[in-house]
This record gives sequence, structure tokens and C-alpha cells, in this order.
Amino acid sequence: MSSALLTPNVLFGLLLVCVFPVLCTLDCTPRKSIPYQRNHFKVFRADGIWNYSTLLIREDLGLLIVGAREAIFALDINDISDAKAKTTWQVPEAKRKECEYKGKHRDIECSNYIRMLHQINESTMYVCGTNAFNPICDNIAYVDGQLKMEGKLEEGKGKCPFDPFQSYSSVMVDGDLYSATVFNFMGSEPIIFRSSHSILRTELMSSWLNEPRFVYMDMVPESVDSPQGDDDKIYVFFSEIAVEYDFYSKLIVSRVARVCKGDRGGQRTLQKKWTSFLKASINCPIPGSLLPSVVQDAFLVHNGDWKKNIFYAIFTSQPASNDVSSAVCAYSVSDINEVFANGKYKTPLSVDASHVKWVMYTGDPPVPRPGACINNEARASGIQSSLELPDKTLQFIRDRPLMDNSVEPITGGPMLVRNGITFTRIVVDRTVALDGKPYEVMFIGTDSGYVQKAVNYKGEMHIIVELQVFQSPEPVTVLRLSTNKGQLYAGSSSGVVQMPVADCSRYSLCLDCVLARDPYCAWDLSSHRCTSLSHSSKNVDLVQSLHDGDASRCPDPEPVVVRNGTLVVGNNIRLSCQQDSNLAQVSWHFAGQPLNISPGKYTIYNDDLFIYNASASDVGHYTCVSVERVVSRQYRRTLAAYDLHLVPDEDKDLISVGTKTEKPPRSPTTTAPNTAVHPSFPQQYKTANVWVATQVALGVVCVLMVALLLWNLYKGHLTLQKCRPQHRKLPQCDSVTSHQTSSSHSSGQLVISLKNNQTNGTRTDSFKHTIDESEI
Ligand SMILES: *[C@@H]1O[C@H](CO)[C@@H](O)[C@H](O)[C@H]1NC(C)=O
Ligand SMILES: *[C@@H]1O[C@H](CO)[C@@H](O)[C@H](O)[C@H]1NC(C)=O
Ligand SMILES: *[C@@H]1O[C@H](CO)[C@@H](O)[C@H](O)[C@H]1NC(C)=O
Repeated sequence: MSSALLTPNVLFGLLLVCVFPVLCTLDCTPRKSIPYQRNHFKVFRADGIWNYSTLLIREDLGLLIVGAREAIFALDINDISDAKAKTTWQVPEAKRKECEYKGKHRDIECSNYIRMLHQINESTMYVCGTNAFNPICDNIAYVDGQLKMEGKLEEGKGKCPFDPFQSYSSVMVDGDLYSATVFNFMGSEPIIFRSSHSILRTELMSSWLNEPRFVYMDMVPESVDSPQGDDDKIYVFFSEIAVEYDFYSKLIVSRVARVCKGDRGGQRTLQKKWTSFLKASINCPIPGSLLPSVVQDAFLVHNGDWKKNIFYAIFTSQPASNDVSSAVCAYSVSDINEVFANGKYKTPLSVDASHVKWVMYTGDPPVPRPGACINNEARASGIQSSLELPDKTLQFIRDRPLMDNSVEPITGGPMLVRNGITFTRIVVDRTVALDGKPYEVMFIGTDSGYVQKAVNYKGEMHIIVELQVFQSPEPVTVLRLSTNKGQLYAGSSSGVVQMPVADCSRYSLCLDCVLARDPYCAWDLSSHRCTSLSHSSKNVDLVQSLHDGDASRCPDPEPVVVRNGTLVVGNNIRLSCQQDSNLAQVSWHFAGQPLNISPGKYTIYNDDLFIYNASASDVGHYTCVSVERVVSRQYRRTLAAYDLHLVPDEDKDLISVGTKTEKPPRSPTTTAPNTAVHPSFPQQYKTANVWVATQVALGVVCVLMVALLLWNLYKGHLTLQKCRPQHRKLPQCDSVTSHQTSSSHSSGQLVISLKNNQTNGTRTDSFKHTIDESEI
């Protein structure tokens, strides 16, 4: 009964959440959830090959280059199931033995995991692999339809991780490789490294990098049209153990760091080290969580002028916390720049012999400003490169790379929040909608093989759809976007999947198309189709309403076809109904009135209506109605309608037709209630009175059943020994399970199992029992 009493409260709670949009922003339900079977995506998998975690898009060659474990593939960018070329890159047996000897797992760690693929020029790419804890790199070219390794086998230390499970990032800028990984076998020496022309690295100090997990790197061309003569910068996103908090356990914080492209290191101090390494905390407060969230991936959205560039980053709650939550926050490059260019520094302060506290540095920092790139001002004072920077500036920055200010998200808080789900990767596409404005659409991979497609409309979080892209619940380890092709590529340990950024044909009705609020899609009033804006011509009459979800211009939908059904007194009936939005509420109506869901009589599961022990009074007109609330509007639509007629002949067997494709799970984490096919459905009970009445009725039925049983035994139709094979004909008495009638025709599909503890007196037996059900 507790669950019965709980239900109204839960419903009330849900209502509250939906009435107040403020509360809705705490979590977000995808409007649609599409299971793997209904996504007809192109897939690439190769026999015996795993860990497809590196993808490089080569639009110029029409290829997607894929790095997996011990193999590299060139796939057709338009159809990745078409592999154009393959090359293997295995670890020599001697190296594998050596790795094993050092205590690593032969088949798991002592393999060559391709971890890096960058384009050098039109013909050549750069590739690195872990190579059994002995990272190496090579050039690879695609010539004459083949992938060819050059075989120059360069040292990969500092470019590529040793350990395949270690996080890393890298970016190629003007032919120079910038990487963030570790420099030694033990993994104890983290590094942000430039490995070509002027080699530079980070200082090996915990104030610089303290057990970091690098997640993302990219370059922002800040030298372009810079009045200060500024330099381009390479940004690194990572998490590390905080040095600045006094905390009882290791606290992970999220950081953004940056270095200047033109940095050449110092002359005496910081020789061959970055003179421009600065880092700051990035905040992404997840509602309900007090501890800082941990950055997992980022993506740079280019908006023309670099000052308008935005970093989108995904965060999850601290690994030690009980509840998993994930969020997306966005940061403007100019805000980050402001913290580095004008913010205060943190400085270590020795409290006693063993303890250091990090506090704001209040004095005036030396000139030129520590950590700044060489700009016009420095040049005017005779400093042409970082080699000429004064020791005072260099010593200051060596000891104080952390800024006092944190970087805050542009919207003040997260753009998207989901509870119970772990985000792993993000890419963001910009698309121009019907209103002529650009919209940033987030594609977020999760650790269970899903991709969420989401938008933030002026603070309102909206997940357009959640797609299951991998059949098994494995993490999405890489996401790449080809804006020109309008395609998204996702990799995991089992394969690569290609999906279009927009799939407007999914929406078959105007209402569905408009309420999806998908910036790529609009309803074409003339062709009655949901079309992709990039494919539609200018002169057609289109409906799209992203902010308001205003579908008033949609034509009235065609009335649903009323389906006729026959009703056999005493049978159970199922009326199916399928809605297309997780945000809609479904209700059933009978004879024009909302159906009073009286316990034991009706239940609604997966939006289908079940009528138990049908009687003549159940004859009539049923409708299934969905109400979808969008912003301040409400849309009502009849999804299904049925007319039930009486069949007087009670013995007539009835199997009515009904169609219902499998409904997607509401989210990867929720499971269908297991009471689904249980004929009593205790969660539907609303009042104790009805419950008692039902119990009394059941009691009466039980007595009748026992009498029937005894009569049968007396007549010799049954013996106790033969009881089990015939139990279908003998409804058992059980306080909760006796809704089925004594009809001997078991035509339904529902199979329930119920405890039988009376058959032999000595045995407590559990067996399957089939009940009558008519599905319409
Ligand atoms: C590689 O794939 C296997 C098999 O799915 C998985 O168990 C393993 O964790 C993956 N390894 C890495 C380094 O991702
Ligand atoms: C591309 O780069 C490779 C390696 O640096 C070089 O050997 C090759 O000549 C370059 N090709 C072109 C067309 O620039
Ligand atoms: C079915 O309904 C009839 C009357 O409508 C009632 O007499 C009968 O007991 C019910 N059977 C069950 C199993 O509830």
C-alpha cells in the first residue's frame, strides 16, 4: 500500500516540476528517445579490431581516418561502412615481451593503441600509438587508395600516452605538435609539450600540474587583427588535484590553461620551459552539488571573430560522490582571456614549516606582466621574444602559474544538466535557423552509448532527442563533426557510427515537427513534410518556432481512424496507444469523459489501457489523448480512438488485432516497472476503500473457486496428482491475483507467475499462469 499512497505524491511532484519552469531547469528529459533498432545509422566495425578512439575528418580526401587498436582505416566519409583502406600497426613481439616483463597485461596494455591522428599537409598525416608502453609516432599517407606508413618511427614520449587508459590531448598548429600527456613510463611526469622547432615543456612542479587528466586542446587565433599585437594561444582543458584548498581528501578541480604560440622559453630561468603557462579554475556549478564538477571534454565553437569564440565543456560530479550528474557549461574566450590578462595571481604562503596556503597576490606583479605573450608593448620596450624576458618576470610566473579568479560560464550556470547520466564527449554545431539566426546545437556522448542532441533557448534547456548509437552500453570515446557534410561520427570500443546532424523525416506530423524545436527542421506546408532547412528551397512556406514552440500555423491533423473492437464479457482488453514525445502526458477518455482509473478495473502501462474483466458497461468509445506542454502553450492531440462492441456469445474466443511497436525506454537508466503485466497493479490504487472492496470481492471469488475445485474433485474430473497439468483450467485463489475469469480459453499473451501454496498442501509452488487478454 505504501507505493499506492506514494503515487499521488510523486505525480504531484512531477506536476510541480512542470508547472514551474525554474524547477525544470534542474534536470532535462529528452523529448524523444530512439533505441538502437530504430536508428538506421551507418556502422563500421572490423573483425578482431577494438578501441576505435581516434577519428580524423579529411573532407578534402572524402575520408574519415580511424585509429583503433593496432589498425588504421580510411573510410568513405559519406558512408563509413565502406572501408577504402586499412593498415595494421602491431607491436613487435620483443617489445610486447618487454612490456609484459614490466608487469603490464599482455593483451590489454601491451598493444598499440592509436591515440593521435593529425593532418600535416594535403598528403601526409601524423600518427602516434602507445606501442606497448613505448609510444612512437610516424607519418602516414593516403596514396593510390592505400594507407602507407613512412616507417620513420619517431619517439612518441610526451606526445602520446604510455598507458592506453591515460587521458591525453593534442593539437597540430602550423605543423607544430602541441600535446598534453605524460612523459614517463610510471605516468608520474605530466607534461604540456611542444615537440617541434622550438621544444618547450611545462615545469615539473605540482603548482604547475598536479596529477592532471588532460581532456582537450585547441588554438585560438588571437593575433588576428589584434591592436596589441598579441599572439595566438593554445588552450588546454584538464582536471587536477587542487593545491589551493585545505580539504580532508583529494579534491579534483577543473582548469583551463594556455600558452602562447610564439613562446620560446626563458634564457636562464625557465630554459626550454613555457614562459606563458597560466592556468585558472573553471566553474560549472551543478545544482544540488557543493563540490566542484570535473571537466571531461570541451569543444571550441568558432564564431568568426575570435573574441566571440566559445568553449563548450562537459562536466560530471566528483568521482567520489554518490549521485552522478553531468552538465554543459560554455565559456567565452574573451572572459578566459580577461582572467589571464588582467586577473590577480595566486601565491603560495608558508603557514608553518610543512604547510602552504594559496592566497591572492596583492602586490604589483613585475613588468612585463608574468605569463603574457610578447605583444607590441613588450616589443616597444625592446623585448622581441620570451628569451629576453627579465628574470623577475620569469621567476614570478614559475612560482605562480595559477590565477586567483575563476572563469565563470557565460550564462552564469550550466546550459544543460542531466542527473544519473555521465557525459563523455561533446561537439557543437552551429546552424542558421528559419529566423536567420545561428543556433548552437550540442551533441553529447554518454558512457552508455547514447548521444544527446540539445539546445539552450535563452536559458531554457531542451534535449531534442536522445539517440542510442551503440547497442551495448559502452562509452562514446570520441565524437567528430563534419559541418559541411552535416554528419556526426562517434567511436567506441566496438566500432564507429555515422549519423546525420538532422533527421527531419523522423517527424511525420506538423505538430511533432514544430514541437521538436529542432533548428535544422521546419514543416513545409505545401509538401506536408518535415524538411531539413539546408535542403529546402527559399520560397516555400515553412513553420518553425524554436523559442516558443508555437504550432498554431500547423494544419489540424487528420482525425485518427476509429478502430472497432469486440468485447467479450469477462475478458481482459488492451487498447494500445503510442505517443511520440516523452514530454507529453497521455490520458484515456471513455464516452467523452476522462477515464476514472479505478483500481483492479483499469491500468495504464506504456500509455496502453488495460481493461480487466470487461463487462457490458465497458462498451463504448475510448480515446487516447496526449497533452504536450511547450513553454506556455499546451497541445492536445488524439492519438488513438476505439469503439468497443459487445459480443453476446460468451464462449466465443477472441483475439483482436492490435499493433504497437516497441516503445523506447524513457531514458537509458529507467526501467519499466516490473508490475507491468501483473493483473492487480497495486500502484494504481488510490484509496484504501477501493482496495478493501476489491479484497472482499476477491475473497468471494476465491470461495467460489475452491467450491469449483472441490466439486471437480468430487466428480472425478480432477485428481490431486493430475492437478498440475490442468491448472490452466483451475484459477487459483490468491488474494491479489484472481482477476481472471473461469473462461477456459487462454488466448491472451500476458503471462504472469503467481505463488501457489495450496495445491498439495505440502508444497509451495510457483508456476506460470496465462490469463485471458484481448488486445485491440
Ligand atoms: C578497449 O576495448 C575493450 C573491449 O571493448 C575494453 O574492454 C577496453 O576498456 C578498451 N581499452 C581502452 C584503453 O579503451
Ligand atoms: C608533406 O609533409 C611531408 C612530411 O613533412 C613532406 O615530406 C612532404 O613533402 C609534404 N608534402 C607536401 C605536398 O607539402
Ligand atoms: C467480473 O465481473 C463480474 C460482474 O461484472 C463479477 O461478478 C465477477 O466476479 C468478476 N470476476 C472477477 C474475477 O473479478
